[in-house]
Amino acid sequence: MDKAKIPVAQRAALALLLDDHREVKKLFGEFEKSKDDAAKFSISEKTCQMLSVHAQIEEEIFYPALRGVSDKIDDMLNEAAVEHQVAKDLIAKLEAVDEGDAMLEAEYKVLTEYVGHHVEEEETELFVQVIKAGIDLKDVAEQLKERKSELLMAEA
Ligand SMILES: [Fe+2]
Ligand SMILES: [Fe+2]
Repeated sequence: MDKAKIPVAQRAALALLLDDHREVKKLFGEFEKSKDDAAKFSISEKTCQMLSVHAQIEEEIFYPALRGVSDKIDDMLNEAAVEHQVAKDLIAKLEAVDEGDAMLEAEYKVLTEYVGHHVEEEETELFVQVIKAGIDLKDVAEQLKERKSELLMAEA
């Protein structure tokens, strides 16, 4: 999704979420390329932290702001809620794996595939509907930004 083409009312909010998606995908790529256990473990930890914060700001601020706009969007939000729950279960399992454990690779791979699918749906379906509906997300963008830095600081 091209950020420059997003209408101003939705741009800042969607751009923040798109940037999160890009950053997570970058970590997926780094994990795949890294050879040693320590690097894989630290990338995995970072991925879990980033995904948890991203899911939380979507659940607390983004998704509620879209509720009730249309049946189509509500259906997508219901599906997203289920997908977030599955992702959180996968994150919890991954976080329980120790450095050097042979299962790290497998747990990480399944998480990347699952999250990749969810992110794709958000960008190609949900975000598209949000733009179509013309929802004003300017305040939401500020709230997302504030909450994100608050959560990142708490995790650091
Ligand atoms: Fe999501
Ligand atoms: Fe997302």
